[in-house]
Amino acid sequence: MLIIHNFAVFEGLDGSGTTTQLRLLAERFAGRSPPDPELPPFFDTFEPTDGPVGRLIRSVLGGEISLEPATVAGLFAADRHEHLYGKNGIAGRCGQGGLVVSDRYLFSSLVYQGITCGEELPRKLNSSFPLPEFLLFFDLDPRAAGQRLKARAGRDIYEHLEFQTRVRERYHALLPEYAEAGVRVERIDASAGIGEVAEAVWRAVQKMPIISR
Ligand code: TYD
Repeated sequence: MLIIHNFAVFEGLDGSGTTTQLRLLAERFAGRSPPDPELPPFFDTFEPTDGPVGRLIRSVLGGEISLEPATVAGLFAADRHEHLYGKNGIAGRCGQGGLVVSDRYLFSSLVYQGITCGEELPRKLNSSFPLPEFLLFFDLDPRAAGQRLKARAGRDIYEHLEFQTRVRERYHALLPEYAEAGVRVERIDASAGIGEVAEAVWRAVQKMPIISR
């Protein structure tokens, strides 16, 4: 399977801290002053995106509209296609020597839609997408993740303990397969404090060839 170089993704349960940590990483890249000429241009991004398909997905996640699980799986794949190949897409930015890190990618579909639709459909829908060079898996006990979600306003349709327990099991089952396929998988202990996790993320990102060479 094709791997996009200079592309890393954060994956994990809801409440595992991927969004916070990506913001901190982006700040760390942006905050180099004077700018470090050794560092590549950095782009942080996320799925579902803020494009038209991503917005439709968010109204499903929020429970405002209801669609068949297989339709939702198709929407995530369509959103991803735009994210990769659309304007300012991942493929273009990485191709021009940028470092792109995405908060969630196709592994979220294999895990979450694997639960809602069965394994086959999300695999089929995502089979032609390239893989990232690095995957940081934010591992956390679903109960601890649930405690963090309590502090947030509103819950999406997947944010309950029973579902998140299955999410974690599926990530654990799935990731070795991708490590085998050539993705560098780094497990991050997401139960640590924000600063400690940020350091672990920084250390992992330093291993990317675009930075370490
Ligand atoms: P999340 O990163 O939690 O967004 P936010 O921080 O805005 O809440 O992602 C939204 C949800 O979408 C999350 O529960 C995981 C789910 N999801 C899928 O089910 N499949 C996918 O392919 C993706 C990218 C996300």
